[in-house]
Amino acid sequence: MENTYNYKVVRQFAVMTVVWGVVGMLVGVIIAAQLMWPELNLAPWLSYGRLRPLHTNAVIFAFGGCALFATSYYVVQRTSHARLFCDRLAAFTFWGWQAVIVLAAVTLPLGITSGKEYAELEWPIDILIALVWVAYAVVFFGTLYKRKTRHIYVANWFFGAFILTVAILHIVNSAAVPATLFKSYSAYAGAQDAMVQWWYGHNAVGFFLTAGFLGMMYYFIPKQAGRPIYSYRLSVVHFWALIFTYMWAGPHHLHYTALPEWAQSLGMVFSLILLAPSWGGMINGIMTLSGAWHKLREDPILKFLIVSLSFYGMSTFEGPMMSIKTVNSLSHYTDWTIGHVHSGALGWVGLISMGSLYYLIPRLFGRTEMHSVRAINLHFWIATVGIVLYIAAMWIAGVMQGLMWRAVGEDGTLTYTFVESVKATYPFYAVRLLGGLLYLTGMLVMAWNVFMTAMSSKPAEAAIPAPAHA
Ligand code: HEM
Ligand code: HEM
Repeated sequence: MENTYNYKVVRQFAVMTVVWGVVGMLVGVIIAAQLMWPELNLAPWLSYGRLRPLHTNAVIFAFGGCALFATSYYVVQRTSHARLFCDRLAAFTFWGWQAVIVLAAVTLPLGITSGKEYAELEWPIDILIALVWVAYAVVFFGTLYKRKTRHIYVANWFFGAFILTVAILHIVNSAAVPATLFKSYSAYAGAQDAMVQWWYGHNAVGFFLTAGFLGMMYYFIPKQAGRPIYSYRLSVVHFWALIFTYMWAGPHHLHYTALPEWAQSLGMVFSLILLAPSWGGMINGIMTLSGAWHKLREDPILKFLIVSLSFYGMSTFEGPMMSIKTVNSLSHYTDWTIGHVHSGALGWVGLISMGSLYYLIPRLFGRTEMHSVRAINLHFWIATVGIVLYIAAMWIAGVMQGLMWRAVGEDGTLTYTFVESVKATYPFYAVRLLGGLLYLTGMLVMAWNVFMTAMSSKPAEAAIPAPAHA
């Protein structure tokens, strides 16, 4: 099997997903603690302003990115019945991506940043990202090209759209004029710069944090449930509707700004429309279990996969609501946004990645299941309680902040000073920290389980079942 398929690179990315998950979430816990205890800003390079982008880059691009590489490389091989196109190029994507992550981990704490959210890395690193990404596209589409099946399974459509779109987003948004090796200035100015940035930012959510993970959903849920996807036709409609609609929703990040009104309203309308394909996809995933709901009771991997979809449904209901301008006038700048982000990030992106890895890792190490199934269950419950604490605290804090900031007395003066809203938020920051600690603990349980599984690995050929439909 090891000769039929290239599992080495999948294994490397899978292991690094767990490593970067622990690191990125640890930094998340540190910045959550800094918001409670500002004394923890011990040195400039350990300050909140520098660690926050380190957190976002580590969890999105290192943890999420490695999970996407691992699963897309596995799925494209299994569903195409073909080995990855060009082993050397695949190895380059692994080492190149790790180099990007290490460079990010060095430059961001040093304060080297382009200042664009989720695109902070400076131009030399941006060039390396572009090279790795083009190599990724060649490996992925090259494998599809040499496939031995007639059909291209729908998971690959989502992975393919994610790879192509992220290449375009990254290259367009990172266009800059270098001043020195560590400093560049955006090629765009003023409102255009903001528009390009949030076209990028929102599609980073749509394609990096959603489309690729939907690829995981379409492969790992049917596999783990032992059932075909609920509706293949729906999956095709889901694909086209989702990728078309996401492209236009970016301006909802720029409500009440210098961006023309019509562009803001257009962004809002497309965000509302986005509810339909998002929920269509979620229903397609969840209904795959129809007739086999009992499996959800016994199988902790399915729990990860299905509960992730409920969080996906929640955040894709909440997002369109927050894009309505009057709602956004309350939610923007508050912790409500942070709650929304983490219901998507911890609930959807995190849980679906973990579920997919629990499926993948034993197979990559030549075993039929993880070292400890009880530990998977434990991880599931610690993580779920952690998410609920995190997002409930942020929702309450966010709505409270929004209402306090807009409260005015009869004479038109503000009822509360800003610092009063900060003080009122303290208890919620404590609950968020606890939720984050639980989520990180779950990740550590996973790291232990993966380590134990890897230690007792057998030759990969022995345990990998022959391909069924894929
Ligand atoms: C242990 C788990 C985690 C903790 C404790 C945590 C904590 C935090 C904190 C304290 C912030 C800053 C909030 C603020 O500015 O007020 C933040 C921001 C953010 N986190 Fe996390 N996080 C965790 C996991 C994750 C994961 C797994 C992801 C993505 C897959 C993620 C994505 C983000 C993003 C995108 C932001 C920026 C949000 C924005 O600018 O609106 N986090 N996180
Ligand atoms: C139908 C789908 C969605 C829509 C329409 C939507 C809409 C929104 C809106 C209106 C905001 C607040 C913008 C602001 O006030 O600044 C926002 C923020 C955000 N959302 Fe969503 N959302 C959706 C799904 C998701 C999902 C599934 C995730 C994560 C996996 C996510 C991640 C984020 C992030 C990271 C931000 C913060 C961006 C920033 O300011 O740094 N969203 N979203």
